[in-house]
Amino acid sequence: MGKLDGKVAVITGGGSGIGRGVARLFAGEGAAVGIFDLDAANAKAVADEIAAEGGKAAIAIGDVSKEADVEAGLKSLVSALGSDVDIMVNNAGMDTTHELDGMPTDMWDRMLNVHLRGTFLFTRAVLPGMKKKKWGRVINLSSQLAHKGAPTMTHYVAAKAGIMGFTRALAYEVARDGITVNCVNPGPINTPLLNSLPQDWLNRKKNELPIGRFGEVDEVAPVFLLLASDEGSYFIGASLNVNGGDYMI
Ligand SMILES: NC(=O)c1ccc[n+]([C@@H]2O[C@H](COP(=O)([O-])OP(=O)(O)OC[C@H]3O[C@@H](n4cnc5c(N)ncnc54)[C@H](O)[C@@H]3O)[C@@H](O)[C@H]2O)c1
Repeated sequence: MGKLDGKVAVITGGGSGIGRGVARLFAGEGAAVGIFDLDAANAKAVADEIAAEGGKAAIAIGDVSKEADVEAGLKSLVSALGSDVDIMVNNAGMDTTHELDGMPTDMWDRMLNVHLRGTFLFTRAVLPGMKKKKWGRVINLSSQLAHKGAPTMTHYVAAKAGIMGFTRALAYEVARDGITVNCVNPGPINTPLLNSLPQDWLNRKKNELPIGRFGEVDEVAPVFLLLASDEGSYFIGASLNVNGGDYMI
């Protein structure tokens, strides 16, 4: 018996890093997993890994910030997986660095669109199905940097703080429909996104951490399983820090 037997989960950005780890963990617990990602090769590789381990997975390729991609992707995943979505993980993301002084407008817009608009579009699209089932889980990726701040990341931190606010507001709206909405705030986790940041930023960050090292995907993925499973039913609008002690609250 898996903790997610019979559930359909969609994970945006499931082709890499944290999303890949969550997709594999959920599939191992019995969920049918839909991976929505910009990167077709990576998405297919993760679906193949899941199939090789005896799980069920489907992929859809698109950009979370584009309404038409979200609608088409969701339709194809629901059709492939055979049911409306029970568990939505809004994980797709990217990062860039620039001081606010001189930040290009399109850099700001892209960051807000991928993280915040993407979370809005996917969540709005899956809610009617969850309401029909009177059960649902929405798990959003914020970041501990939304609490702590970070130089050269006003756009990223603003987007992640927005996701935290979105999580709390929506949690009120749907809790009585059997739907929980929460967010996970990872610290620095060893993924391609983290490793795309400048080396001096990474060195400084590692030195700041009480634990003295970056986290691994397997150290954060179990938090998603807790929130996704029946055991997570009393987490409403929570914001769970998994951050090596970088920000303690
Ligand atoms: N790794 C960290 O240290 C860390 C810390 C805090 C929060 N996060 C958040 O966790 C999430 C996952 O990050 P990760 O570190 O696993 O990154 P990653 O780069 O390993 O994976 C991100 C995935 O999202 C996909 N993606 C990016 N933009 C997309 C778009 N517009 N539409 C569809 N797919 C898109 C990428 O193709 C990739 O597969 C992000 O939201 C990130 O901000 C990461």
